[in-house]
Amino acid sequence: MSDDLKKEIGRRRTFAIISHPDAGKTTLTEKLLLYGGAINTAGSVKGKANSKYAVSDWMGIEKERGISVTSSVLQFEYDDYCINILDTPGHQDFSEDTYRTLMAADSAVMVIDGSKGVEAQTIKLFKVCVMRHIPIFTFINKMDLEARDPFELMDEIENVLGIRTCPINWPIGAGKRFKGVYDRETKQVSSFHAVSVGGAKGAAESDFDVNDPALKEEVGEELYNQLMDEIELLDCAADEFDQSRVDHGELSPVFFGSALTTFGVQTFLEHFLKYTQSPLPKLSNEGMIDPMQEEAFSGFIFKIQANMNKAHHDRIAFMRISSGKFDASKDVYHVQSGRKFKLSQPQQIMAQDRKIIEEAYAGDVIGVFDPGIFSIGDTLCAPGKKFQYEGIPTFAPEHFSRLVQIDSMKRKQFTKGVTQLAQEGAIQIFQDYSLGLSEIIVGVVGVLQFDVLKYRLENEYGCDIRLEPLPYNYIRWVHDKTLDLSKLKRISDCKKVKDMNGNPLLLFANEWSIRLLLEHNEGLELDEFSRGETV
Ligand code: G4P
Repeated sequence: MSDDLKKEIGRRRTFAIISHPDAGKTTLTEKLLLYGGAINTAGSVKGKANSKYAVSDWMGIEKERGISVTSSVLQFEYDDYCINILDTPGHQDFSEDTYRTLMAADSAVMVIDGSKGVEAQTIKLFKVCVMRHIPIFTFINKMDLEARDPFELMDEIENVLGIRTCPINWPIGAGKRFKGVYDRETKQVSSFHAVSVGGAKGAAESDFDVNDPALKEEVGEELYNQLMDEIELLDCAADEFDQSRVDHGELSPVFFGSALTTFGVQTFLEHFLKYTQSPLPKLSNEGMIDPMQEEAFSGFIFKIQANMNKAHHDRIAFMRISSGKFDASKDVYHVQSGRKFKLSQPQQIMAQDRKIIEEAYAGDVIGVFDPGIFSIGDTLCAPGKKFQYEGIPTFAPEHFSRLVQIDSMKRKQFTKGVTQLAQEGAIQIFQDYSLGLSEIIVGVVGVLQFDVLKYRLENEYGCDIRLEPLPYNYIRWVHDKTLDLSKLKRISDCKKVKDMNGNPLLLFANEWSIRLLLEHNEGLELDEFSRGETV
């Protein structure tokens, strides 16, 4: 493998930022981009509802509702690193795509609101990261506002998320009494003074050695003594930094800061780049493919976005490059179809614009035109290679509706539309165990997917539909696919369905009924997600 290629790949860092809405993901992303010089002003990353549609305006529904259904990739350079941030849509636009995007990341940054701690959406996204054993970094944000006790926050992360924590820095006070952070490695304190820069909130920073008497004056005796006690406690009680445990997602380095005032962001970025890894090896049917060893190009599709341009009915597939260099002038081999072709108009999907690219490297994510044959999880590689990456799991939907077609004359378009949208991964479809296809059940991770489904069936396939909500919120795949579900005891509370591959599943109203079924059926194994087909 050439040194140049190794260098290009080695300097890439590809990560996703996860958080509960409002914890500060957009603000932190923006500040990171400012450091990288990728944007000039704050406020450019994401058009908020009813402001300009900064990220994309691909789909009519996005325009109508001022939301971002799709996500993008933000690439910038910092200190010789080439950084790819995978933007995961949040809020009401949360969908299965959000989970899938995590499959393309080599690490995750979890932003937590210091006053709230671990919130529902963080837990869901976090579980996917844990499943992948990727490094997880924690940024505890909004320390300039009243925050919970930092020890309590760390306990919560450890107990609720089941990962150990290792504070890299430590806050001195919070809210009006927020005085700065102490770096445990350099033993330096960066002190915090809130300032207003041209109407925007900012911070003035000065550095002190922890033993400098001026520090006591700066933060006050009480907070100084408290800091000394806490440092002592941390040094004997907290987990020590251990790169290998970080690499395996067992230990999360924790940082405190305030994204809005850009306080603690640079330290975070610099430590993060040091502790995080270059593109990771990925499992295929021929074993692990390591981007630091495999010279040939390969990548996988983790997301497909249809009808970005309605006039052409085009579909854009998002590909994460997993090894080698992608060269737009060369043929690629699509393993699943056995076909060889050039990918047309490969592009970088950035916040505001899309740029046609000629080349990209392992770690990068690019958008390519789908000639109509791609499915989520497909592998593309250099001709001559034939390995296939492990599939992308199907994540458990949490909302279910019965799909009713209003005009039954259009059965053909309806079936085509539903099948295509399911293949694309926009929705998951199930059928009743005994009624078969005469009852189609749609499952989604975020309720917005229902709106997208209705909108797209009407606009792209000309089918009017009605969605009748079903009272279930939990789905479980039955591990033993040959099991006769009618033999299960206490099964009356749940609905028996099949997915499109004929796999048996159960829908439950609550966790209690899942427990009840398991208690009454010894040996029954239920899975929270279905692994993508691995060949
Ligand atoms: P999200 O992407 O995770 O949903 O969060 P976002 O960054 O949009 O931040 C949510 C709100 O929290 C924003 O205020 C933002 O300015 C504020 N915020 C983010 N980080 C900090 C911080 O470190 N300190 C303080 N005090 N506030 C922070 P907003 O009023 O909802 O929106 P905006 O009008 O400021 O954009």
